[in-house]
Amino acid sequence: MKTVALELEDGIAWVAMSRPDKKNAISVEMAREMAELMDRLETDERCQVLVLTGAGESFSAGMDLKDYFRATDSATAVERARVYRLNASWQWRGLLHYPKPTIAMVNGWCFGGAFTPLAACDLAVAADEAVFGLSEINWGIIPAGVVCKAISTVMTQRDAMYYIMTGETFDGKRAAEMRLVNESVPRAQLHSRVGNLARVLMGKNPTVLRQAKTAFRYSSRMGWDEAADYLFAKSDQSTFMDPERGREEGMRQFLDEKSYKPGLGSYRRDKGGKR
Ligand code: ACO
Repeated sequence: MKTVALELEDGIAWVAMSRPDKKNAISVEMAREMAELMDRLETDERCQVLVLTGAGESFSAGMDLKDYFRATDSATAVERARVYRLNASWQWRGLLHYPKPTIAMVNGWCFGGAFTPLAACDLAVAADEAVFGLSEINWGIIPAGVVCKAISTVMTQRDAMYYIMTGETFDGKRAAEMRLVNESVPRAQLHSRVGNLARVLMGKNPTVLRQAKTAFRYSSRMGWDEAADYLFAKSDQSTFMDPERGREEGMRQFLDEKSYKPGLGSYRRDKGGKR
């Protein structure tokens, strides 16, 4: 891979957009490599949590203006649709429905199109020093691709409109204040904080984590009645599909063994069957 870097470390797949000399701007080649890598990691046991970040000083400076704008201006409508579909396959369709937990680790510059994978990850942690911007207005376009939609899921209308319309930058602390990211920490602590968060997720039952992510994403778009019915069915499916029998094990350890408090932490997974 030329534009994506992978480091596998104790269950964590650190996946970096990697064109540091171009501030990790997302090229067609990067989209292709990222889609392929995510597809491979989906069934790779060495990846239990996927962390999306950027090589060097940038998360990503957004879509590569040469590849995704200048080059596609002269492409046919079919070619244009193909490169945009390729990008969607990882940036949001892939990430939104990824079967493993995903964390965006925003280490530096984060502009325009980079907000899409940021919003599509389950969790996000930024460096205080990271610089974010919906810069589209500054060069005469709207936040398209699917940026407007993506940010509407993680920003309030007032905040989104403000940054869409002014194109002003903001830092990691402000991103955390707005809840665009879960938290922001000094850059020197970013890697260890994200590693710790990933390890918390790895301590949970992976089948139930996957079902919980899907349950939240779909039910948030439904009315109450549909959501209640869907969630009952989803809950039964989760129990049925869980090789650990986590639900029974959790109840046994709490009600019979009295060895833990579900309100305060997870059940012991080593006794629950297959880890
Ligand atoms: N597309 C293509 N090339 C890019 C992009 C991009 N989005 N961002 C940076 N680059 C390239 C630069 O053209 C430059 O290439 P060169 O060395 O061949 O001249 C190289 O990356 C380094 O960039 P500099 O601008 O020299 O770096 P600097 O540290 O001065 O500035 C900054 C960094 C602020 C991120 C600046 O590069 C920038 O404003 N980039 C564009 C950000 C942006 O608006 N992204 C698009 C959002 S819209 C969308 O994604 C749909």
